[in-house]
Amino acid sequence: MAKPYDPKDFYYRKAKKAGLRARSAFKIDELLKRHRLLGKGHAVLDLGAAPGGFLQILAEAVGETGVAVGVDLEPIRNLGKAWVRTGIVDLLAPDALERIRALHPGRFHLVTSDMAPKTIGIKITDEQRSLELVRMALGVASETLERGGAFVAKVFMGGEFPALKKEIGERFESVHVARPQATRESSYEVYVVGKGFRRGAGPS
Ligand SMILES: C[S@@+](CC[C@H](N)C(=O)[O-])C[C@H]1O[C@@H](n2cnc3c(N)ncnc32)[C@H](O)[C@@H]1O
Repeated sequence: MAKPYDPKDFYYRKAKKAGLRARSAFKIDELLKRHRLLGKGHAVLDLGAAPGGFLQILAEAVGETGVAVGVDLEPIRNLGKAWVRTGIVDLLAPDALERIRALHPGRFHLVTSDMAPKTIGIKITDEQRSLELVRMALGVASETLERGGAFVAKVFMGGEFPALKKEIGERFESVHVARPQATRESSYEVYVVGKGFRRGAGPS
């Protein structure tokens, strides 16, 4: 069956040309710039990081004085940068936080999640699986972010979205919803950005 989108579209070709591993690199680049989320020397955690498009951009943003940690169910090919650490972690497994702490025991300034379930094409099921991953990511962010830190997560828009936005709002001073330009037109994904993490706020 033909795909409802061109898999080798403008952003795919642009990413290839720039040596980026995934077109999603442009999404995080836009969000970092628009919301001023990271600087040199910061520590950042990327959940669902394979093949490494986000991580390439995040690693550049923190530079060699920072730390960029990427984890995924799948292995992430070495980025060749000493300040980047990667690991195979299932965010739905009970030892996920422990494994992340083994890669970087300190706190993070930013936690990003581009995690997505394997979609089956049934909207409600795909949405629910996406929400489960976002809630796990929010849980990890709540345990590992420094005060004032930020959170970015991909969410499939659905009926539970307002409740999720409220949950994020309980932990962050401000919440924004963004649809970066590189998002495929046919996609119903958005990114939720929480800024100003309030340590100790909300259920953890
Ligand atoms: C859209 S891809 C991420 C692309 C990545 N941000 C990039 O720029 O290269 C979604 C990723 O979420 C990962 N994922 C899905 N469920 C996960 C889970 N339970 N734990 C960890 N990663 C998961 C998938 O393996 C997949 O690599």
